[in-house]
Amino acid sequence: MEFELTEEQIYVQEAARDFTQRELLPGVIERDREMKYPTDQVRMMGNLGFLGMMVSPEYGGGGMDTISYVLAMEEISKVDSSCSVIMSVNNSLVCWGLEAYGTEEQKQKYLPLLTSGEWIGSFCLSEPEAGSDATSQRTTAIDKGDYYLLNGTKNWITNGGKSSLHIVIAQTHAEKGHRGINVLIVEKSWPGVTIGAKEDKLGIRASDTHTIMYTDVKVPKANRIGEDGFGFKFAMKVLSGGRIGIAAQALGIAAGAYELALKYSKERETFGKPISQHQAIAFKLADMATEIEAARLLVYRAAWLKDQGMDYTSAAAMAKLFASDVAMKHTVEAVQIHGGYGFVKEYHVERLMRDAKITQIYEGTSEMQRIVISRNILNGQLYEPLWKIETV
Ligand code: CAA
Repeated sequence: MEFELTEEQIYVQEAARDFTQRELLPGVIERDREMKYPTDQVRMMGNLGFLGMMVSPEYGGGGMDTISYVLAMEEISKVDSSCSVIMSVNNSLVCWGLEAYGTEEQKQKYLPLLTSGEWIGSFCLSEPEAGSDATSQRTTAIDKGDYYLLNGTKNWITNGGKSSLHIVIAQTHAEKGHRGINVLIVEKSWPGVTIGAKEDKLGIRASDTHTIMYTDVKVPKANRIGEDGFGFKFAMKVLSGGRIGIAAQALGIAAGAYELALKYSKERETFGKPISQHQAIAFKLADMATEIEAARLLVYRAAWLKDQGMDYTSAAAMAKLFASDVAMKHTVEAVQIHGGYGFVKEYHVERLMRDAKITQIYEGTSEMQRIVISRNILNGQLYEPLWKIETV
């Protein structure tokens, strides 16, 4: 069993750390307060190759492995989860799906724009009544011969106001259930695409989350990804990979809060010594370090399985389920360690605590991850016991 990172992976990790400290940390509190989209920072992420990390170089990507991607996600999320969710959606849900299942023409036309950051992508699955229950799509894509007529509303779309390309999931043959769903590439500039209200959110406030309306949008058949009816499976497949990215985001949030709490606890003194010397705080630090390391192993393992071409559906769900709970629990503890300072916006931990919450919700809630994991246990794909306990 090998736990060492390669030289290339360490290089990516250090580059992401350096970029985060230099370009994301200054201004992160103001961007959060003002819900200000990080336009300059996203452009820099494009220049540095963070927006199409796993895409093959022939389409302008970095040709990197998933481990490198999660290392970068983790570092950026320690400081700025608004930037890391923009990056995650563009990498995992848009670029990866397009490269894995798109036609050569689609890949050549769209991927270089997306990997460079000239365009940002969004993934339009969720609807007012179809979030967790992703098969209940009300958005329709009616087959009109050489194009689809798209109508419907999508909610809580990350990058919604900024994305030039939308990956839209829509129902074509309602009578076929999930087998009647298609996935279409839609350009924002097309007639009938309307960007609705921007959400005022608890966390990741600098990321741009909108409702999007489609009214009689004509989508050429050439912009369908995969066969007729492939849309739901496409969504499930890209979300499995996306969950590794969000798990890495949660890991980064937890690790960022831990690093701040550790530093603060060594500096702040009460009763004549640093608070880290009080067992009440030292034990909190021990629990944080242990559970963050456990989350890290799950996240890296899910990424490794994906890189090996092995099934990673359950591993991704476990990584997201566990890492997001660790992020929520330990950002609360980091605020507690900071005491009154933790409750004010001048310190970063309260923002990390607010940012942690969404990792238990988007790209499949924790409850949906438990559905994925438990189904795989019960159908025998996961953890068949190596030995049987004999009963008498
Ligand atoms: N890979 C490939 N195929 C899959 C799959 C996977 N990971 N998971 C399911 N499928 C297939 C099944 O095999 C089945 O196919 P067949 O009928 O041909 O056998 C089909 O898909 C339907 O599967 P289920 O019966 O399991 O579907 P379900 O309706 O019971 O739903 C679910 C399962 C796991 C709960 C799914 O609905 C789900 O993941 N829901 C959560 C959706 C989600 O993550 N939403 C997040 C929105 S996007 C977002 O947040 C982005 C953002 O902006 C940050």
